[in-house]
Amino acid sequence: MIFKKEHLENLPETEKVIIPVYARHALKTHVPKYEMEENSMLPRTAYEIISDELILDGNSRLNLATFVSTWMEPEAKQLMMDTLDKNMIDKDEYPQTAEIENRCVNIIANLWNAPEELDAMGCSTIGSSEACMLGGMAFKWKWKEKMKKLNKPTDKPNLIMGKNVQVCWDKFCRYWEIEPRFVYCEGDRFTIDPKKAAELCDENTIGVVCIMGSTFDGSYEPVLRVSEELDKLQEEKGLDIPIHVDAASGGFIAPFLDPDLLWDFRVKRVKSINTSGHKYGLVYPGVGWIVWRDKDELAEDLIFYVDYLGGKMATFAINFSRPGSQICAQYYNFLRLGKKGYREIQQTCRDIAMYLSSEIEKMGPFKLITKGDNIPVFAWTLKEETNFSLYDMADKLREHGWLVPAYKMPANREDLIVQRIVVKNAFSYDLANMLLKDLRKNLEFFAHQKGFIKKEEGHQFRH
Ligand SMILES: Cc1ncc(COP(=O)(O)O)c(C=O)c1O
Repeated sequence: MIFKKEHLENLPETEKVIIPVYARHALKTHVPKYEMEENSMLPRTAYEIISDELILDGNSRLNLATFVSTWMEPEAKQLMMDTLDKNMIDKDEYPQTAEIENRCVNIIANLWNAPEELDAMGCSTIGSSEACMLGGMAFKWKWKEKMKKLNKPTDKPNLIMGKNVQVCWDKFCRYWEIEPRFVYCEGDRFTIDPKKAAELCDENTIGVVCIMGSTFDGSYEPVLRVSEELDKLQEEKGLDIPIHVDAASGGFIAPFLDPDLLWDFRVKRVKSINTSGHKYGLVYPGVGWIVWRDKDELAEDLIFYVDYLGGKMATFAINFSRPGSQICAQYYNFLRLGKKGYREIQQTCRDIAMYLSSEIEKMGPFKLITKGDNIPVFAWTLKEETNFSLYDMADKLREHGWLVPAYKMPANREDLIVQRIVVKNAFSYDLANMLLKDLRKNLEFFAHQKGFIKKEEGHQFRH
């Protein structure tokens, strides 16, 4: 018999609780999806409905497409639960959360070798996208100030970057009406070319973006060489162009695994750096960070002052309300792991990425684009004509639960289809071997599919 709603509504509340969960009315009839019902339901019932729907999502631990942390320690989770109710923007009510944010900015500025004689400043954001917006805005405002002093027009700013930038930079240019000037991919170069970047600069250039950990293939961009080309440009044409480093992923890898690589504030032209705390900062989403080498890099116009402990505190993020949890979890990681812990985790990720890439290369039809020795991310393509495409391989892996996206490289190498794996903390050697087993099984499957019609176009994966 289909249960009538009235039967239930007339029951006393205590009896509704006694009814076994999946025998309750709300679980035996349609779920209100696009309009709010008049009546309430028991908390447990609502919980089961939603958590059951979410079973249909992919398993985040098998999501090798995302850069975002999918595992944290139980103590960190507990701390996040404890602090979800604190709005980090209420600096006056929650001064200790503000203090913890401040400590994190200092720790990160030190990791990136901010010069001691300067006054580095920074803040947390909801992620790297917001942090990149802030870095770009600071460039635009600084450039405008400079042009105004020279009595020159300020209506045609441009920004130089590789075509491999993450979509947040396209957004930044569109929202803030800046002409994006791209260094396109060429042959086997999928990242910025320092010489070409310098050639694109003129007096309307607000800055150059370099990426530490290209989203497409995990490679570091040559920040120092870009800086050297810009030094030459300054000598020749008098143009002083700043660099912002988008270290969304590499900001927490390079300091631990490549301490001698010059990409951070040791390079004088680098004025600001962003990172995602929720990527290799090892925190659940969403938290990002931006640091400027000196407070002078941030135009006064972009700073707003809020009350803080009876005094004034500078804020310059775009977003306002946000839970304090991710900031506390970031500080938890800094305390809990220390440099040694971060180094061990990132090295393990790199080792596993390099193990996986070398095994994939040995399988036969694949050619590596990168091997995972920068950020622990690597991409490969097909080196020979096969009866399947990488889109087919991605679909087939999905049958086993793995998310390993296939996509086109950026212009002018859109002809090249690659597949990419992001190795993150808690992707163990054992899981890596299971993935390899499934890849081999799939190769065998395709080998037996004579006449298989391969997919030439896939759903375009958004970076
Ligand atoms: C290089 C780069 N910049 C920016 C972003 C955007 O980061 P978020 O997701 O933290 O906003 C990403 C994300 O993958 C990225 O790889």
